[in-house]
Amino acid sequence: GRIYRDGVFGKRPPVPVHPDRLEAAARRAMGRDAWGYTAGSAGLEATASANRAAFDRRRIVPRMLTDVAERDISVELFGRRHSSPLLFAPIGVLELMHRDADLAVARAARELGIPMTISTQASHPMEDICAELGETDRWFQLYWSKDKDVVASMLDRAERCGAGAIVVTLDTHILGWRTRDLDRAFLPFARGQGIAQYTSDPAFTDLVRRRAEHGRQDGETPRPTLTALRSLVSMSRRYPGRFRDNLRSPLPRTAVETFLDVFSNSGLTWEDLPFLRQHTSLPIVLKGLQHPEDAARALDAGVDGIVVSNHGGRQVDGAVGSLDALPGIVDRVAGQVPVLFDSGIRTGADVFKALALGASAVLVGRPYAYGLAVAGQTGVREVTEHLLAELDITMGLTGCRSIGAIGPERLTG
Ligand code: FNR
Repeated sequence: GRIYRDGVFGKRPPVPVHPDRLEAAARRAMGRDAWGYTAGSAGLEATASANRAAFDRRRIVPRMLTDVAERDISVELFGRRHSSPLLFAPIGVLELMHRDADLAVARAARELGIPMTISTQASHPMEDICAELGETDRWFQLYWSKDKDVVASMLDRAERCGAGAIVVTLDTHILGWRTRDLDRAFLPFARGQGIAQYTSDPAFTDLVRRRAEHGRQDGETPRPTLTALRSLVSMSRRYPGRFRDNLRSPLPRTAVETFLDVFSNSGLTWEDLPFLRQHTSLPIVLKGLQHPEDAARALDAGVDGIVVSNHGGRQVDGAVGSLDALPGIVDRVAGQVPVLFDSGIRTGADVFKALALGASAVLVGRPYAYGLAVAGQTGVREVTEHLLAELDITMGLTGCRSIGAIGPERLTG
C-alpha cells in the first residue's frame, strides 16, 4: 500500500522490488571483489541454481472465501514471540557492501523488530552491534574455532550481549571452492576484513600476542601491543585502503595469520558437541544440515534447533537444493525442535513455500545484503518490508490467516 501511495506523488521505492533488479542495483553499487564475494557460490554455482530450482518446482495452490481479513504472521521460537517468521542470516564482512556494515543492519533490525544473527566474521565487534540493536532480539553465529579459549570467550561475550541462541555453522570448517574469489585471488579475511570479532576478543588477542612474542624470539616479528590491535580494528573500519597497507607491518600480519589458522576445525565430530553445551546455557542451533541422519544425530546430541541450509550454495557445488532437503529433515525431527531454513529465498512467496514444507522460520541472506549495498540501513529495511508484505499478501490470497495454517497441502510438486 505504501509504495503505491508514494507513487501518486512520483516517489519510487528506494531499492528495486524485483529480486533480479535488486541484485543488478547491488552489483552497480559494489566493487568487483565485493560483488564476486557476495553473489558468488561454489564451483559452477550449480547448488545455488538448485536452490532456486527447488523453489520454482513447487507451486502454491490458493483457496478462496476463507475470511482472511485479519492475518497474523507472528511465530514463537525458544519461548519468545517474534513479529514475523523472518530473521537476518549471519553474513560476514558486511563492510564489503556498506561502510556502516553490521551497524546499519542492526539499526534496520531494530526499526523492524527482526532478530539479527550476528556473524563470527562481522565487521564490528558484537558489543558494538548489540548497542545498535537495543532491545531487539539477537542470536550469535559461531564458527567453531580450533582454539578452545577463543570459542569459550566468544560464547561468553555472546551471553553477556544478551544473545537468545547460539547458531553453530557446521558447513564451513573448510572454505568452499569459490571460483569467483579464486579468479580474483580475493579473500577478505587475508586482507584483515571481517575479523573484528576476533581482534576485539581477549582470548584471541592473547593468542596473537603469544604468537608474535614467539616470532620475536625467532627474530621475525616485534612484540605487538593491545593498543596497536585496537587501532588496527578501528582503522579497518575507517580506512580500508590504509588498513591494507598496514598489513605489511608484522603485528597485523600475525593477527591475520592467527585468524586464518584458528578460524575453524575440520577435526570436530558429534562427540565434541558437549563442549559447547558446557560453555553456554543458551539454546544451541546447528546450521548447515542437509541430511535427515544428521538431524537425528543433532537430536541425540540434545541440540535445541536446526537450520537446514547449504550456505547459499557457497560450500559444496553440485549439492541438493536446500528446499529439497527440508521435508526429509522436518519428517525426521517430527516437531521435537524448531527447524529453520535458508538458501535461495528471494521473495515472500519463497518464504511461504519454506513454511509450507515445515520450516518454523527462515533466515534471509543475500537479499538484505543487496539492500545494504544499495541504500544502507534504509535498503535493508526496505528489502525486508517487501518480503514481509509479499508474505502477508500471499497468505491472504491463499486463505491462510496464520503461519500455522501454511502446510504442505498448500503446495504441488
Ligand atoms: C554468508 N553466510 C554465512 N553464514 C554463516 O553462518 N556465517 C557467515 O559469516 C556467513 N557469511 C556469509 C557471507 C555472504 C556474503 C553470504 C552470501 C552468505 C551464509 C548465510 O548465513 C546464509 O546461509 C545464506 O546467505 C543463505 O542463502 P541465500 O539466501 O543468500 O541464497
